[in-house]
Amino acid sequence: MDTFAVKGNLIHAPVFGETETKLGSLLEVDQDGNISSVISSDDPEFVAREDYYRGKRNLLELSDSEYLLPGLIDTHVHAPQWPQLGKALHLPLNDWLQEYTFPLEARYADLGFAERVYSSLVETLIANGTTTALYFGTIHIEATKRLADICLNLGQRALIGKVVMDNPEQCPDFYKDHSTSVGLDETYQLIDYVSGANGNENDRVLPVLTPRFIPSCTDEMLSGLGKIASETGCHIQTHCSESDWQHRYVIERHGCHDAKSLDSFGLLQPNTVLAHANFIDDDDMKLISSKSTAVAHCPLSNFYFSNAVLPVRKLIDSAIDLGLGTDISGGFNPSIFNACSMAVTSSRALEEGVDAALSSYDRSRPNTRIDFKEAFWMATTGGGRALDLKVGVFKPEYAMDAIVIDTSIEESNLKVWKDLDSTEDILQKIIHNAHRTNITKVWVQGKQIK
Ligand code: GUN
Ligand code: FE
Repeated sequence: MDTFAVKGNLIHAPVFGETETKLGSLLEVDQDGNISSVISSDDPEFVAREDYYRGKRNLLELSDSEYLLPGLIDTHVHAPQWPQLGKALHLPLNDWLQEYTFPLEARYADLGFAERVYSSLVETLIANGTTTALYFGTIHIEATKRLADICLNLGQRALIGKVVMDNPEQCPDFYKDHSTSVGLDETYQLIDYVSGANGNENDRVLPVLTPRFIPSCTDEMLSGLGKIASETGCHIQTHCSESDWQHRYVIERHGCHDAKSLDSFGLLQPNTVLAHANFIDDDDMKLISSKSTAVAHCPLSNFYFSNAVLPVRKLIDSAIDLGLGTDISGGFNPSIFNACSMAVTSSRALEEGVDAALSSYDRSRPNTRIDFKEAFWMATTGGGRALDLKVGVFKPEYAMDAIVIDTSIEESNLKVWKDLDSTEDILQKIIHNAHRTNITKVWVQGKQIK
């Protein structure tokens, strides 16, 4: 591709808790779609570089009311649960899985259905500014390959796993791998397919080892996947200590918490992403941190299935990489901006407590809140770190994955008052009220896909 530059207001969050704003600066993109430099408006080179791109007709000039942000990163999505978004949230986790989710996921034996749903999902996530998504598919290899094709065609960066679940005691007959060896074989097949797929020469789509969670897998399956992990170095994703029931199930079966059990099978790697992790204790945190394993925080879903708020600040203090996830459809909203909002709001519930029948002292857990800047970091920089990818921040050698937020759209809930709002205020408003109508442009690897 031709090199190009975007001139405008840039906001990103290279450091947890801080944002960096560069008004009227120049973001240069090389022929591979990576950022080559970020030039501030007061840099002596600025005018010459701007003229260079203008001369080549390769300069995109944003208006004063537009902001260039890193693309949003969703570190936990169940692609097949898209048709279930916004419903069936009245049951606890295991009943929800058995009564609603497994029957829905079983339908992806039908490739036509898979194509319809996955196209709709990926289009919607891109429209909402999600440039990278870490997807659970289903147990079906063909449908999961189709999800990879759709991400390749629509231009999203994606990490995709064929779900593995072979434990007959926890999985219904109509929805489980035919056998342990078939589950492992098909995992290899997905790795080969994605690695060799047309248009994936730069590995924009990656295969992921995906044991659904410990209850749904036999020990044989978990150790088989651990072996594939050490052979291939592929990413790994699973659910970890999500609910009281799930956490207790693993204690009863393996005599320890999820983190230690997963580690014993070789599944706690630097490119492992553990969804939820609400019930991890101090020892689990030390272990997860020592393995450079990441956690996907899914604050909305946690209200329904975890019944506990993740103490985000404690994980950050333990040097655990943290990204945000929608957990579609355990979470009923596809927007990572909404996940930011929920992360902030739920942390306030944890810090201040929610039961007015208790004294404010008894209902509070001091110093646990996070703010919008910290949530924005998780949605961008933190997500990139969690996935071990050079995305999420505007730095040379990082991929140009970015979105434009237009704050001047009349038919939107996002209202900026230039005489009242600082740039940080504007970012806070974007996080809480930007909608897909405000997201006017989306790039992945330098290619505009919205
Ligand atoms: N644990 C096992 N499967 C699932 C799932 O699909 N969603 C959530 N939230 N938790 C799970
Ligand atoms: Fe999940």
